[in-house]
Amino acid sequence: MSFGAFKRKSPYIVGNWKMHKNVRESLVYLDNLAPHLAKSQAEVGLAVPFTALIPVIQKVKEMNLPIHIGAQNMSDYPEGAFTGEVSGEMIYDVGATFVILGHSERRHFFKEDDAYVNRKVKRAIKENLDVILCVGETLEARSENKVKVSLEEELKGSLEGLLEDHFQRICIAYEPIWAIGTGRVAKPEEAEQAHIYIRDTIKAMVGPEVSEHTRILYGGSVKPETAAGLLAQPNIDGLLVGGASLSAQSFGSML
Ligand code: PGA
Repeated sequence: MSFGAFKRKSPYIVGNWKMHKNVRESLVYLDNLAPHLAKSQAEVGLAVPFTALIPVIQKVKEMNLPIHIGAQNMSDYPEGAFTGEVSGEMIYDVGATFVILGHSERRHFFKEDDAYVNRKVKRAIKENLDVILCVGETLEARSENKVKVSLEEELKGSLEGLLEDHFQRICIAYEPIWAIGTGRVAKPEEAEQAHIYIRDTIKAMVGPEVSEHTRILYGGSVKPETAAGLLAQPNIDGLLVGGASLSAQSFGSML
């Protein structure tokens, strides 16, 4: 098995726009982000709404921007009578390269459990999409000292049945639920400890080589002021940024 040269060498910084930006706003954003991309040594991704995928991908090609474009969700089915769903094949077909799966907002508001997320992860890999799999504990789990157990459970459930080779397509995002959109960012040492738990769990599941090469991003209220401290931790390989990615200026300053 060989991991792509990109793995863990440079930080991977991904913006998650969630349900923000129409087509016009998305395209203006790219114009404003371009100068920052030219100066950055990070690998960069943007997870945009479905409706923005085609125009954004077209413009990224035209401008030759070094950035991965992905979706924020997909169906666990290849096709069929599933009104309102979008398949992995459709996402790949328009030129997107990755998809975020298991985000806590999907788990919470749309009742996605580990088994459902697991089916989506397997489907995404079949469709040649890279996956950013989100995991993270609740405030309750943290206050009861159950961070490790809760991360292990989510990882094992969401990645059940995956083989070593599949991990070349998987990157994990540690997003403590109490830190998402709340303004409460995890302290770098707290995040680092959780990333070590995650790496250890992957090691127990598929061995040391895979765990050493798997990128683990931190997400949850990351701001330009807190990005560098988090990235300085040895096991934090990048960032998944929500609110602060909505302005090209603030996202660009992190890059
Ligand atoms: P936030 O969102 O940066 O706004 O907390 C992060 C995420 O949910 O991916």
